[in-house]
Amino acid sequence: MSTVVAIDGPAGAGKSTVAKLLADKLGITYVNTGSLYRAVAWALDQQNLAVEELTADFLEKLSLEYVNGSLLVNGNDPGAALRTAEIAAGASKVSKLQIVRDHLLPVQREAARRGWIVMEGRDIGTVIFPDAKCKFFITASLEARAKRRLAQQGEVSGNATLEDVMRDIAARDEQDSKREIAPLKAAEDAVVIDTGDMTPDQVVDAMAAEVLKVM
Ligand code: DC
Repeated sequence: MSTVVAIDGPAGAGKSTVAKLLADKLGITYVNTGSLYRAVAWALDQQNLAVEELTADFLEKLSLEYVNGSLLVNGNDPGAALRTAEIAAGASKVSKLQIVRDHLLPVQREAARRGWIVMEGRDIGTVIFPDAKCKFFITASLEARAKRRLAQQGEVSGNATLEDVMRDIAARDEQDSKREIAPLKAAEDAVVIDTGDMTPDQVVDAMAAEVLKVM
């Protein structure tokens, strides 16, 4: 069994917040896998290429590796450049391609080589680490997720309304859960947590109690 705490769920459910807090609490490395798909979209954009122009050769030349949980793209940390709404939309598109998912699978498996990690994404418990020792599916209603996004102002343009954000998130949900390859869904053995009425600390305490049973 893999020493991985797999955390999956839709955009805006609070996955990253609780995943980071959980990793801190447990004293283990946090790995965000959405960054990989964002990095592919970002690298395409840097070369003025459309998603349709992505080739195996392009992926081969793109170096992606995690060092202590931080993703390095061609040796550098792209930081906030990956967190824009445009790159999020591009990431959702590239994440539908089998060639991309195949290329990113070993990068993710490699990240778990050195002991326990918390890994966050959409298919960690179903595809990347189906044998993870502990799996969670973090979710919340569309409205709750949109309100949080708006409050954080991350990935939201200055004058976006709640309706705009709900529409954006619904579109991404649709793309992420309807795609043929590795769609967003809870693993059968995942603990499902609806974060709508919970504080991050409450969610983390509930998760830590589960992890400590198997760690
Ligand atoms: O979690 P995020 O918003 O950074 O993810 C960006 C996109 O990448 C999102 O549209 C879903 C996709 N993704 C994926 O398909 N599989 C993962 N393990 C992580 C992210």
